[in-house]
Amino acid sequence: MTTSAAAPRRILLGITGGIAAYKAAELVRRLREQGAQVQVVMTEAATRFVTPLTFQALSGRPVRTGLWDEAAEAAMGHIELARWADLVLVAPASADFLARLAGGRADDLLATLCVATEAPIWVAPAMNRLMWSNVATRANLATLVGRGVRLLGPDSGSQACGETGEGRMLEPAAIVEALRGVGSTGALAGLNVVISAGPTREPLDPVRFISNRSSGKMGFAVAAAAREAGAHVTLVSGPVSLPTPAGVRRVDVETAAQMYAAVHASIGDADLYIGAAAVADYTPACCESQKIKKTSDCLELSLHRAPDILASVAALERRPFTVGFAAETTEVEKHALAKLVRKRLDLIAANEVGTDRAFDREDNALLLLWPGGRRELALKSKADLAREFVAVVAERYRDAQRSVAQPVPAAV
Ligand code: C5P
Repeated sequence: MTTSAAAPRRILLGITGGIAAYKAAELVRRLREQGAQVQVVMTEAATRFVTPLTFQALSGRPVRTGLWDEAAEAAMGHIELARWADLVLVAPASADFLARLAGGRADDLLATLCVATEAPIWVAPAMNRLMWSNVATRANLATLVGRGVRLLGPDSGSQACGETGEGRMLEPAAIVEALRGVGSTGALAGLNVVISAGPTREPLDPVRFISNRSSGKMGFAVAAAAREAGAHVTLVSGPVSLPTPAGVRRVDVETAAQMYAAVHASIGDADLYIGAAAVADYTPACCESQKIKKTSDCLELSLHRAPDILASVAALERRPFTVGFAAETTEVEKHALAKLVRKRLDLIAANEVGTDRAFDREDNALLLLWPGGRRELALKSKADLAREFVAVVAERYRDAQRSVAQPVPAAV
């Protein structure tokens, strides 16, 4: 099984006639970086703005432009091409193309492919602001959206015609980001996954608390990746300043005790639990009701052990597949292995933390350990790392399911 960062996808990129066609070059490059195969189809008008050769070089495939191109039709006919695509993306989509699409026309190759495909169609409109607000364009869009065509943008801002307003094509980076979760691996399809993320705050008095450097970025990236892989995700989060990943149910908590309660409230029907939170190990024995005054030279704090959420989930009679994280400053593998065993986990993800490592950074590396196995995931963005991590978790989860389902051999 592969653990590639993004699901390989076959994207049919339709380019229609507009000045924004030049931005499609950047789009092809970014989509390929994500591991997608891109087949470009240009309308005749699009070829007036950028040459097919540009897209051929960037996509690594001959560009298709006409319905009547015999050689190309012999290699892959337009119906085969329509079937080949996992997703059709038209960017830029001109007002004329949207009108033809709404009309169900099949008067050029791109329009024909859109009529002939079963793949989802996404359009990124690009046009002058008055064309965008024109009633006919609005009606065409309403028809298309009503049929399930997905809209990307447009943006507003300065336009090639010198005007300012709505109608600019969404930037390629934003288009790629919007398409990230589409056509997911389905590796966790239909499973209920509970994930804890971020730090906890243990109050000392009404204005002070004990906490740690966790930003929640890794846990949130794991939640997004699990969602992308088709899971129903509940994200129990300590105090962080991060947006909730699309499609994820989020429960905000502050203390370790609240996180314990929120996790256990959701764990009943969970198939997987991923404890990515940096939960306090110790919490103040009591929280003063008034601000602690600096009356003495020395102040002693009495701390009690906080509940170990991860170990408590692993100890449940009907336990989900339980995954922990181990943030270590020394002897990473040794300490992580000890935790895997002590907390009775199915898998542990270890990373080295320190002043310039892991915490509150955009990238990370992980060492995954499970009973009888290990895998190293090299340094990369937390978003990509989370996808690889989820792929391994899904693989281990399925393995565990298979061994549970294995019939006990009959005694001889
Ligand atoms: O023992 P240690 O804190 O290093 O273990 C880290 C793992 O245990 C993480 O997955 C963390 O979410 C979890 N944990 C927990 N409750 C605690 C402390 C840690 O769930 N009180």
